[in-house]
Amino acid sequence: MRGSEANVTTSPPQGPWVPLDRARQRTSIKWRLYPADVLPVWVAEMDVDPAGPVVEAIDAAVRAGDLGYATGAGYAEAVAGFAAERWGWDGLDPARTAIVPDVMLGAVEMLKLVTGPGDTVVINPPVYPPFYGFLRNLDRPVREAPLGSDGRLDLDALAEAFTAARAGGRRAAYLLCSPHNPTGTVHTADELAAVAELAGRHNVRVVVDEIHAPMTASGVTFVPYLSVPGAADGLTLISGSKGWNLAGLKAALAVAGPAAAADLARLPEEVGHGVNHLGVIAHTAAFRDGGDWLDTVRSAVDANRRLLADLLAAQLPQVRYAPGEATFLAWLDCRALGLGDDPAAVFRGRGRVALSGGLDFGAGGVGHARFNLAAAPETITEAVRRMAAALD
Ligand SMILES: Cc1ncc(COP(=O)(O)O)c(C=O)c1O
Repeated sequence: MRGSEANVTTSPPQGPWVPLDRARQRTSIKWRLYPADVLPVWVAEMDVDPAGPVVEAIDAAVRAGDLGYATGAGYAEAVAGFAAERWGWDGLDPARTAIVPDVMLGAVEMLKLVTGPGDTVVINPPVYPPFYGFLRNLDRPVREAPLGSDGRLDLDALAEAFTAARAGGRRAAYLLCSPHNPTGTVHTADELAAVAELAGRHNVRVVVDEIHAPMTASGVTFVPYLSVPGAADGLTLISGSKGWNLAGLKAALAVAGPAAAADLARLPEEVGHGVNHLGVIAHTAAFRDGGDWLDTVRSAVDANRRLLADLLAAQLPQVRYAPGEATFLAWLDCRALGLGDDPAAVFRGRGRVALSGGLDFGAGGVGHARFNLAAAPETITEAVRRMAAALD
């Protein structure tokens, strides 16, 4: 048993999580942006080994030299099958889809189809920070309709934002994040139907980022926007990037509702030239064959939500944390700690632990920080210890 003796010094397996010593060897941005003594719990990468079906599909493609350009309906069919099985939605028609380089570039392209330069896009802060940067780069002014204090969509704020966005008869769009990053809010069917009704009444086009949809808490069912009444002219984006940790193998799927098919048909052919064939193979395998792996990780994230809540209650009881129903992200209200507007900067500087700073998430981000729960329990425990140490 020499082999197992040689392994005695490495950390034992902790569910699906890669132990910290092994995760640290990764070369992605999570591990390389900050100095090695900073523990990273920021960007949405998971400390997991990849799903077996994904590894097999990529390995087979590389070995076969299947390294050309992407084509075909396999990705769309895999997502359609997943949507039918998991979410009870059989309305995803592969004929109304397009493969795009990734979710954000796909969202940009969908917004280009339904708005022009200078047209306003409504978003719900606090929200995934790149929404701001991509919209700025696209020359689409942002109108904020903040989430309510309960972390849910505020229909009055949305109505006000839609009215302002449409002033002067300009076209306008709404970029909805569903499930919501960073709060983990899963919008209900009723909420989404109300959004569709409101958008229809104001003539605002809805583009939905559903990248976190596969990563719901156990027992929580995601509702696809295009499955609700009134959403037929919606455009959505999905990928396996978050659910199966495939951010480095980019490829996403744009899906049009029946009344948006003609818009999607205007997508310039060139957009497809940015698609990574290996990415398509990986995401297709994930949605088609990665369900068991996903469920294992979802359960482990459930446990980590409870672990974080317990650790915070014991060591940082002033931090307010309402565990979300989706994503592997935790949105922490640190205002009562008295660390100023950007507690993540203090945690990083004094505690040597990197969370995502709340200020980047727009309105509602002051005094907040985002914690990435997709890590081994030992990592989460150490991260909270460092956060608490930053207060000393
Ligand atoms: C809400 C949301 N949208 C988009 C992305 C990025 O996706 P992609 O790399 O496919 O553009 C992320 C990554 O964390 C995200 O959280």
